[in-house]
Amino acid sequence: MSDDKPPRRRRVTSKPKKDDSVRMMDTRVKTARGRKMSSTLWLRRQLNDPYVAKAKSLGYRSRAAFKFIELDDKFKLMRKGDSIVDLGAAPGGWTQIAIDRGAKQVVGIDLIFVEPIGGLDFIQMDFMDEGAPAAITDLLGGAPDLVMSDLAANTTGHRKTDHIRTVALVEAAADFAIDTLRPGGNFVTKVFQGGAEGKLLLKLKQTFKTVKHAKPDSSRDGSPEMYLVALGFKGRPDK
Ligand SMILES: C[S@@+](CC[C@H](N)C(=O)[O-])C[C@H]1O[C@@H](n2cnc3c(N)ncnc32)[C@H](O)[C@@H]1O
Repeated sequence: MSDDKPPRRRRVTSKPKKDDSVRMMDTRVKTARGRKMSSTLWLRRQLNDPYVAKAKSLGYRSRAAFKFIELDDKFKLMRKGDSIVDLGAAPGGWTQIAIDRGAKQVVGIDLIFVEPIGGLDFIQMDFMDEGAPAAITDLLGGAPDLVMSDLAANTTGHRKTDHIRTVALVEAAADFAIDTLRPGGNFVTKVFQGGAEGKLLLKLKQTFKTVKHAKPDSSRDGSPEMYLVALGFKGRPDK
């Protein structure tokens, strides 16, 4: 499985390195009666993933934390004192890093409950609900400096349905960012398979100074995910 390969390595302090105490392992998982093959493979991948081990040793709630570290190091997404919205926040890895790096406030939303983190105002709600944007903005003191979305819909196995649901989440996150960000603010979102759809990309290029795709090293090689980074919000056309 290509997913079991070690991540490509570059020297970034926060990530596992070859000589790190966290080493690649090859832990095999016995198939058990009643356990699906996909679960066995998932378990094996988790046990052999250096980012999972490193996240555990640093007290990060998810390996996804490393993706935000890499993206922020590269694109300077946030600054100390920022007000940030975390869409798809559970279990809280991105929020932890944002707060470690000096965010003044993080408002997070997820279908799944997030155990409390100091500095996080959390809403357990479907972001696609009509009332979600207002629920988030009600908790913000003003326009956010960064909207970050790691939203990922549970896959159904039906490719077309999964694609439609994923695109809908990305579009809703982008619309929310455009509706709420302060001028100069930033937006980052997970996208899948070849990046953002043409129409969305065009909209973001019209409303942000710089728009780029990025695949952090900590994003699994076999995963179709990548990130879209939009920097320097130009402001709402009506303002
Ligand atoms: C990849 S995880 C996020 C990991 C997180 N960034 C971290 O660092 O811990 C994706 C999250 O999106 C959430 N999600 C998916 N669809 C959602 C929706 N419609 N509304 C709210 N959250 C949603 C899932 O429940 C899941 O927790």
